[in-house]
Amino acid sequence: MTPSIGQQCRSRCLAESRRRASRPTNGPGSVDSVAMTDRPVTADRLAGIGPTIFAEMTKLAVATDSINLGQGFPDTDGPSEVLNAATAAIAEHHNQYSPGVGVAELRTAVADHQRRFRSIDVDADTGVLVTSGATEAIAAAMLSLVNPGDEVVMFEPFYDSYVAAVAMAGGIARFVPLNAPDDDHDEWWFDPDDLHAAVSPSTRLILLNTPHNPTGKVFTSEELRLVAAVAIEHDLIVVTDEVYEHLVYDGAHIALASLPAMSERTLTISSGGKTFSLTGWKVGWISGPEHLVSAVRLCKQFLTYCTPAPLQLGIAAGLRMGDGYFAGLAADMVAKRDRLAAGLAAVGLEPYRAAGGYFLTTDVSALGDHTALDFCLTLPGRVGVVAIPSSAFYAHPDRGRTLVRWAFCKRHEVLDEAVDRLSGIR
Ligand SMILES: Cc1ncc(COP(=O)(O)O)c(C=O)c1O
Repeated sequence: MTPSIGQQCRSRCLAESRRRASRPTNGPGSVDSVAMTDRPVTADRLAGIGPTIFAEMTKLAVATDSINLGQGFPDTDGPSEVLNAATAAIAEHHNQYSPGVGVAELRTAVADHQRRFRSIDVDADTGVLVTSGATEAIAAAMLSLVNPGDEVVMFEPFYDSYVAAVAMAGGIARFVPLNAPDDDHDEWWFDPDDLHAAVSPSTRLILLNTPHNPTGKVFTSEELRLVAAVAIEHDLIVVTDEVYEHLVYDGAHIALASLPAMSERTLTISSGGKTFSLTGWKVGWISGPEHLVSAVRLCKQFLTYCTPAPLQLGIAAGLRMGDGYFAGLAADMVAKRDRLAAGLAAVGLEPYRAAGGYFLTTDVSALGDHTALDFCLTLPGRVGVVAIPSSAFYAHPDRGRTLVRWAFCKRHEVLDEAVDRLSGIR
C-alpha cells in the first residue's frame, strides 16, 4: 500500500532526527562547536535602545518588596461589565483569529465613541484599526509612515516607546522641550519658536501625546491649534496618542483630529488599558482617514496580525457604557492624585500639578544634591518605594536630571502606606 503523505512526512522527519542524533555534537566539525564571531548581533537601527526602565525598576520593586509607584498600572480590576463581556466571549467560542482589522463590534464601538465624545466622524470599516495595545499602534504607525531619514517631531519628555519606534522605522526624532511650570507658567509649557525650529524639510510627522506621560500636561486648545497650524503649513501627518483621554482632571481633553482641517491628516491612538483599568489586556486602536489607516493596517497585519478576540469584545462593551462610568473613573483618579500629591508635599516633595493621566512629577533636588537616577535606585532599599527617574523620558537626560515620576493609579491604602514609608527619606 502506498504510504499517505502524512506517513511519508513522519518517516522523513524520523530519518532526519536519527541522522542529527548520530552527529557528534561537541567534536571538531560539529555544528555546535562553531563559535559566533563578535560581530554585533543587534541591528544598527536599535543602537542606543536598552531594556526599558520599567522592567528594571519593577524587578527592583519585587526584589525589595517595595510599593511600586513606578509602572503605571492600576491595582484594581476594571469594570465587571467589561470583564464579564470578555468571559462570555470566551464561553461563546470567540477564541480563534479575529479579522486583522479588529472585530466589527469593537470597530463600531470606537467609531461611536469618537462621535459621542469627540464629535469626530470615522468610518468603522475603513477608519478604525484595532491593535495590540497603543504600543503596537505607535510602532505600526511609525513603521508604515516613516521612511529612513525622515524626521519625527515630538515633545520631550516623551513616552519611552516613541523614540524606539521611530528608530525601528529608520527615522530621526527631533525634540521640542516641554518646560516645567515656573513663575510665569502654571502648567508645563513649550516655546512656539522651539516647535517651529524642530520642523525641517525632512519632517514627516508630528507625534503628540495629550494628556501627556510623564508630565500630566493636558494640551490646551491654543497649543493644539499651534500644532495644527504647523502641520498644515508643512503638510505633515500628526499621530496623536490620547490613551489618557478619559483621565482629565483640570480642563478638557481636546482631540487634535477635531480641529478644523485636521481630521484628514491625523491618526488618533487610544487604548482600553487606561480607560478600563485593564493594562494587561493590551487592546488599543488607531482611527482616522482611510488613506492613513490603511497604510498602518499593511504593517499591523505582519506584526501581530490580530488582537485577542474575546478581549476586543470586552472592550467594545466598555466603550458603550454610560457617561457615569467615564466621569466616575476620572473622579476616582483625581482623588488618588490629590492624596499622593498631599503626601509627597508633606515629605518635602511638592509635585507639579498633573492635569491628566496617571503620574505626578517632583523635583528631588528639593531633598538634597542627587540625581533622580541615584534617588530612584536607592529609594527601594532605603524606604521600600519604587518611582521612575524621569530622565528615562528624555533624549537629553540632563533636562530631566532631578525629576522623578510617581504613579498615583493605586488604592488609597497603598498610596497612604507609600507616603508613610516616604516619611523616612529625610
Ligand atoms: C502615553 C502612552 N502611550 C501608550 C502607552 C501604551 O499603551 P498600551 O498599554 O495600550 O500599549 C502608554 C502606557 O503607559 C502611555 O503612557
